Amino acid sequence: MKTVLTTPPQFPKDEFSTRRTRLLDQMERDSIAIIPSAALKMRNRDAEFPFRQDSDFLYLTNFNEPNAIAVLIPEHEAGQFLLFCREKDAKTERWTGRMAGLEGAKTTYQADNAFPIDEIDTILPSLMENRTTVYYSMGVNPSFDQQVMTWISSLHSKIRKGITAPHALTALDLILHEMRLVKSEAEQSLMRYAAQTSVIAHQRAMKRCQAEAYEYQIEAEILHEFRQAGMEVAYTSIVGGGENGCILHYIENNQCLKAGDLLLIDAGAEYQGYASDITRTFPVSGKFSDPQRALYQLVLDAQAAAIEQVKPNNTWIEPHEAAVKVLAQGLLDLGLLQGDLETVLEEKTYTDFYMHNTGHWLGLDVHDVGRYKINETWRTLEVGMVLTVEPGLYISPNDQVDPKWWNIGIRIEDDILVTPDGNEVLTAALLKEVDEIEAFMMS
Ligand code: GLY
Ligand code: MN
Ligand code: MN
Repeated sequence: MKTVLTTPPQFPKDEFSTRRTRLLDQMERDSIAIIPSAALKMRNRDAEFPFRQDSDFLYLTNFNEPNAIAVLIPEHEAGQFLLFCREKDAKTERWTGRMAGLEGAKTTYQADNAFPIDEIDTILPSLMENRTTVYYSMGVNPSFDQQVMTWISSLHSKIRKGITAPHALTALDLILHEMRLVKSEAEQSLMRYAAQTSVIAHQRAMKRCQAEAYEYQIEAEILHEFRQAGMEVAYTSIVGGGENGCILHYIENNQCLKAGDLLLIDAGAEYQGYASDITRTFPVSGKFSDPQRALYQLVLDAQAAAIEQVKPNNTWIEPHEAAVKVLAQGLLDLGLLQGDLETVLEEKTYTDFYMHNTGHWLGLDVHDVGRYKINETWRTLEVGMVLTVEPGLYISPNDQVDPKWWNIGIRIEDDILVTPDGNEVLTAALLKEVDEIEAFMMS
């Protein structure tokens, strides 16, 4: 049952400097970019949540510590890549773990220069002197927004000394997120690797699933494989039996599984920051009932139609439109919807049963960055983009619907890389055909 994991892929040595150079090349010559790290977040009293680096910061630096700020300057005597971070200190390291320190920032992370984070209020404004433009992602971190404004204001008060203060603020995310949207070869390998672990985890969950188990016990099987591979969850796992499968963001995972119900699992591992995102739905006791099979096959057909549309030069919306068309026709054929296909599509009456989009970008964030429309037009798919394709059907108890369909919740989700010839399904190794599932669960 186990797919053997290949050796963990690594980044080539120049992956991060190449990214920084690509960003620097797109900046005005007399500008500066400021990118803050994530902060530690308290869980309760003095206990912290596990630290997760800010994805933009991680993308540009690979530096995985809180309390740091990266600065990029196309032309400056101090260098192009400067890192403000915590100074190495043996006492602090004893309590809270290892730190790169200023030397490590330069030797391990290739900063041209590193400064103590405690001195940022004096050093950063001086680096901003005589720069016209500041590249910064406004509105993500309100208290840091305030700090950036304070640094800029402090320069305005020095104008009489002959200093020019920046007079333009440019959205850094517009450039950076376009870069993040198209994955390098190395990023693709990492995402393939994260996907492989998720496949193994879903197989284990499917194999261990049985009536009377609790949803959290199945979640534990998933987590076992993630941690076994040294990976984190990319998002909180959804493990919902029966009617819980109809709750899109169900994360309580605390109910007992019933024979005859379906189980929906949406869970993905994260490797070096890169997410995978898989959903499978299967019968708790290993055999689909007739109504479950009919709806499952419909979602599977919709997914196949959508995946077929993932190819270069198709637009973002084409997979969704293909999925919706198959679902709508199937719902009409099964008597869950009335009327004709054209009206169902026009009036969107299918949204009673299918109320979400067919996918999203995938990368350092599970709902990754990157625009879906450019100038109000759906954007074109390009080689190196990664997206999910995840149609579903969710039937709530309702007078209009035959009770045999009630509380069936199904989603099937895979991760798709756009390739020159069409696409590669990164999660293809995880079975999803009706016969395959039944045979696997009975074996
Ligand atoms: N797991 C979140 C999603 O599928 O979008
Ligand atoms: Mn998803
Ligand atoms: Mn998902």
